[in-house]
Amino acid sequence: MIEFSARLQALPGYPLAEIPSIKRRLIESGMDVIDLGAGDNDTPPPAAAVEAMRDALADPAYSKYGFQQGLPAFRSAAARWVERRFGLRFDPASETLPLIGSKEGLSHLPLAVVNPGDVTIVPEPGYQAYLGGSLLAGAEPYVVPLRPENGFLLDLERIPEAILRRARLAYVNYPNNPTAAVATQEYLERTVALCRRYDILLAYDNAYCDLTFDGYRAPSIFEIPGARDIALEFFSLSKSFSMTGWRLGFAVGRAELVGALTRVKSYVDTGPFLAVQKAGAAALDRAEELVEPVRLELERRRDGAVAALRQAGFTLEAPKAAMYLWVALPPGVPSAAFAKRALEETGALVLPGSAFGPAGEGFFRIALTVGADRLRAAAERLGRTLETVRRSELATTA
Ligand SMILES: Cc1ncc(COP(=O)(O)O)c(C=O)c1O
Repeated sequence: MIEFSARLQALPGYPLAEIPSIKRRLIESGMDVIDLGAGDNDTPPPAAAVEAMRDALADPAYSKYGFQQGLPAFRSAAARWVERRFGLRFDPASETLPLIGSKEGLSHLPLAVVNPGDVTIVPEPGYQAYLGGSLLAGAEPYVVPLRPENGFLLDLERIPEAILRRARLAYVNYPNNPTAAVATQEYLERTVALCRRYDILLAYDNAYCDLTFDGYRAPSIFEIPGARDIALEFFSLSKSFSMTGWRLGFAVGRAELVGALTRVKSYVDTGPFLAVQKAGAAALDRAEELVEPVRLELERRRDGAVAALRQAGFTLEAPKAAMYLWVALPPGVPSAAFAKRALEETGALVLPGSAFGPAGEGFFRIALTVGADRLRAAAERLGRTLETVRRSELATTA
């Protein structure tokens, strides 16, 4: 008998794990499924990235190991983009690091700073790689519920002093998945100050920084004075450039912190495929022109979906960023039962809030990954499910 580690057993089921098989079964049975589950946009990757990739595939040099250094041109493009986007300068060679998607860096980071029994601070609902990476490193995650009355902000100041003293790492993600909340400057200043006071590494996950609406601009954590001492920031090409499957992201921060993550990675992977890095550099160099249509389309989808959901009986605000709607359910309606019913009875695939941890209960998440017409159709189907559960025992027995 092979016995599995306590760490493995501590991992909760990954939220998206069973969905593909349920979806396949429904499609095979003839159901028209509208998949609003994963944050995987339907827009194609940029032609500039595809062309660069094609060129790279024809050149055997790009088929070699990239190692952690990766493609210097990618690091330079990343540093140039950070400078254009946020007005901040980082040394490409020592202060940027290519990642096999930002998930990879975020989940490996605890191995660089956590000893068994140390605390990591993890938001809930939240991106599950923070929790998984913490558990796999033997850390004790301290889960902080994100509440609507608090603007879904992870308030470090409410964490007991004894925990803060044991904390080595805090994950903070705005624009946020799944709530689509954004952070104020004042919040970021308080967060940086607290991490400095307790020597907590701040992993600032900025995967959605370019997907912003209504004129809102998402800042870099490094715009906050003093952040360089304690923060690493994570960026992704997945969402802005619709390159989810290419697996490319990067970390930015001062050399010592980037170096620690580099050291961990040098033992577990050999960096992103060099051809993908070449494509990523081509995308980053034209980010302004390439991201704008994606952003505009998401804004249109958000507007259409918010209006349709309100009409269907849901109460929600229009978010200022990210690619999600975080929709409240009536009190007493369990999100998993609602999502299952919506999928099996109407073909509308959304993620229950509980998939992002127990504190996500009472909500479901819609990814704006299909066109406005399909989003409207999904909203109407979800409205039907809402009516059914309102009338059924689900609401009364929960
Ligand atoms: C908040 C957040 N961070 C990071 C990621 C990971 O993105 P990547 O594809 O770069 O690994 C995601 C993906 O959904 C996300 O929602």
